[in-house]
Order: sequence, then C-alpha cells, then structure tokens
Amino acid sequence: MKLVKLLANLGYGSRREVQGMIRDGKVTDDHGVVLGKHEFPGHERIRVRGRALDPAFPLTIVLNKPTGFTCSTDDPGDTIYDLLPVRFSLRKPGLNPVGRLDKETSGLLLLTDDGKLLHKVIHPKSECHKVYHAVLDRPLEGHEGALFSSGELVLKDETRPLLPAGFERLGEKEALVTLREGRYHQVRRMFAAAGNHVVELRRLSIGGFRLPEDLEEGEWRALTGDELERLFDESLSDASRAREDG
Ligand code: URA
Repeated sequence: MKLVKLLANLGYGSRREVQGMIRDGKVTDDHGVVLGKHEFPGHERIRVRGRALDPAFPLTIVLNKPTGFTCSTDDPGDTIYDLLPVRFSLRKPGLNPVGRLDKETSGLLLLTDDGKLLHKVIHPKSECHKVYHAVLDRPLEGHEGALFSSGELVLKDETRPLLPAGFERLGEKEALVTLREGRYHQVRRMFAAAGNHVVELRRLSIGGFRLPEDLEEGEWRALTGDELERLFDESLSDASRAREDG
C-alpha cells in the first residue's frame, strides 16, 4: 500500500493533509530519516512525528465502557468514540462495536474493523455467549431462571421468542445472565418481563474472553491474537467462570 493511502486510512488526515505532513518532514522511518511519498519501509518502521503507527487492519480493541456513553457515532452527547483517539473515528475501514451496549450499561465492549469477526461474534449460531451482571430494584422471585431458559419468552413488542438464556442468582437482588443473541436492551427487557427492573448492568465476558482486570473504566487496548482466539473458546465460556473472575 502507498504511504499516503495507508496514513489516510489510519485516520492521520485526509490524503491532502497527509501529503502536507510528508512534505513537512513529519513522516520518518525508525531511524528518523524523512520519508518521501513513494517510500514505504514497512508498517512497523514508519513513524509520524516520531511515534509508531497505530495497528494496521484488522484491529480489534477492548474498551471498559463506563455508563453515560452511547455506542453511536452520531449521538450529540458523549459517545464511546470520545474515549478513543480521534484518529480511530477516521479510520477506513471504521471500528464498529461488536454488539452494542446501551448508554447506562458498562463493561466489556469490543470494537473491530473486521466485518467477518464482528459477524461471527454476534451471530447466535456462533455460541459466543455474553455474560452480564445485573443489579435489580426488587428481590428475585425464583421464577426467573425457568422463564429465561424456557425458549418461550417473548419480549414486549416482539413476536419471536428469545433463545434460551442462562441465569444464576448471586444474591437477593443480583444475578448473572448469559445470552446467545443481542436484542435491543435485552437484559433490561427480560427482567421487565419477569416483573423487575435493572438498576445496574455490566457486561463481564464475551465467549471465553473476560474484561481484563487491569483495564480501568474508560480505558482501552488492542486485543492480542490469543485473546481473539479465546472469544471462540467454548470451554472458557460460562457464567460461573465470569463470576469467579469478574
Ligand atoms: N442488555 C441490555 O439491556 N443492555 C445492554 O446494553 C446489553 C444487553
């Protein structure tokens, strides 16, 4: 790939702006030698203002999403893209959330520019389970597990029943819910169907990948190859593990 196109696709500026950066000597190799627009020493060796380039396509990142941020690009309020480098919202292909979290839900959010990966994670057939920790307004009544796992629960304003979901009571007003699909506000609406109300919701894991403990709220980092594989490792994917470590 040409240098100008690469830098523009990584969000360093429009093609014209990138050409200006190259003319101004802002783009060098790892020894500080200024690069011309026809030079390409390889992604790892290119520096912009002395700094290594952002990772190339395909990139998947994990964000510890705080509450109060939407997953939309065009929301006038705070969005998850405000928590990432400005360049990331200019990348081509763009970074998209892998299964959105609603504004008041926190925790594990993946973003990727890899359409195949995104599809594989969110498709119900992938068996890539998502585990949520819910804190409720009222005490659990005991019927929730049977209702959620029945495969017959139809949410308000829908006609198709939910796939069976996992449920684990953690306390009087606390539970883990494991989903194989991702419908709009699904966990909140499931508890509403059970006569309760979710006051706090946090995603703990996707497949066998758990929210890294060292990632503070609002922080992000790129996923490693091992972590990408863990997404699809069913042996690591269950609610009790998420509880032990979450
Ligand atoms: N269920 C919800 O209610 N909200 C989310 O963000 C995810 C699952």
